[in-house]
Amino acid sequence: MTAEMSAGVSPGVSGPARPVRLGEPLPHTLRDDAERLTRDGLRELQLTRLRASLRHAYDNVETYRRKFDEAGVRPEDCRSLEDLARFPFTTKADLRDSYPFGMFAVPMSEVRRVHASSGTTGRPTVVGYTDNDISAWSDLVARSLRAAGGRPGHKVHVSYGYGLFTGGLGAHYGAERAGCTVIPASGGMTARQVRIIQDFQPEIIMITPSYMLTLLDEFERQGIDPRTSSLRVGIFGAEPWTEEMRREIEERADLHAVDIYGLSEVMGPGVAQECVETKDGLHVWEDHFLPEVVDPVTGEVLPDGSEGELVFTGLTKEALPMIRYRTRDLTRLLPGTARPAFRRIEKITGRCDDMIILRGVNVFPTQIEEIVLRVPGLAPHFQVRLTRRGRMDHMTVLVEAQQGTGAERREEAAREVARGVKDGVGVTVDVTVVDPETLERSVGKLQRVKDLREE
Ligand code: DLL
Repeated sequence: MTAEMSAGVSPGVSGPARPVRLGEPLPHTLRDDAERLTRDGLRELQLTRLRASLRHAYDNVETYRRKFDEAGVRPEDCRSLEDLARFPFTTKADLRDSYPFGMFAVPMSEVRRVHASSGTTGRPTVVGYTDNDISAWSDLVARSLRAAGGRPGHKVHVSYGYGLFTGGLGAHYGAERAGCTVIPASGGMTARQVRIIQDFQPEIIMITPSYMLTLLDEFERQGIDPRTSSLRVGIFGAEPWTEEMRREIEERADLHAVDIYGLSEVMGPGVAQECVETKDGLHVWEDHFLPEVVDPVTGEVLPDGSEGELVFTGLTKEALPMIRYRTRDLTRLLPGTARPAFRRIEKITGRCDDMIILRGVNVFPTQIEEIVLRVPGLAPHFQVRLTRRGRMDHMTVLVEAQQGTGAERREEAAREVARGVKDGVGVTVDVTVVDPETLERSVGKLQRVKDLREE
């Protein structure tokens, strides 16, 4: 890390282990130095780091040098945060074209770890971390955990997958850095996860929301009411989920459900985190990542508050500097609340890539989730199937009935979902209510949409 990039960083957290009191602001002793900055102080730090990161990318990565040269910009042209808009975007294609390590900015001997995101097609995207990158990542996940209500001495059950996926190890190092005890459960073997939670009594769980539903079903299958478990906070991310899902999980598990966001290309989990005292969207840890929201079609930067595609520039990344990375995630930027210096992102609606265009109408799986979870008699498990009838695309929503829902109620529920989708989204869909426990269960990130249309 250059001197500029490390300017002002030090975890600087002190404070005794004490029980979490939810709904109460994080005490100042548990905030790190960056969390105590004013908005102006933060912007000053961002500019210093941004200039250093642009320089680092240009000097050390062939792809950036070529793209900056083609766009006619040099790192020194960045004199204000707004000047970033003059620099070219980076996309997943840039990383794929340089597979596996072509965009790394440091010698391989300084790359301490790699991760990869699977992607649905083609080569995976490979990302790398220096010692400093891993340390900064751990600090940010630790900060996220504290924002979620975690405190030193808590036990954290990590059910994100360990391996090339960033979820498991990212959460793990952060929980250790926060002074917690980590239970590295990883994904899968759900019956055993329930036993471990019952025996080890963790206060916190980090898991995808869809796998949490699988876990809650397993508690109930074993005859244990999940509300009686030791879990008090769930930190859910890696896939989109809705306010309706928050209510469902909070009620069934009697815990606080908060959102964590991140992506491998930019770091992994812990790029943004929702604070437990406000649960009003996710604060972006802007001392390390500069967010922009752009029009997904034209790439034009949109003012705060407008919905569009989230773009991130890494401000401290050494191994894999990221300049204006197009995430494909859709959200809006909002002012900070519980951490006033950091802007928030609204809960992610979905990705540009998940958007289904059905007979000209844009549909996101999260819109279907909102509707399904409001209809009595249905379980929160559903799948969207796309088929072609003649030249028309067709969408069928398969939803599981709750145990004990009779035939008549199932039919009514199907009609209610279809009506909800017609009124709320504006498309006609078929809805089939299927038997409990017949749809595929998640053990990590869930693929909600099955596209059965032939090319
Ligand atoms: O999913 C990192 C992560 C792990 C985040 C654990 C949170 C918890 P990738 O596999 O690279 O990294 O996938 C990144 O997942 O661009 C979003 O589309 C989606 N995503 C991640 N977190 C959220 C969230 C990890 N809280 C992609 N809400 C991102 C909605 C999310 N979507």
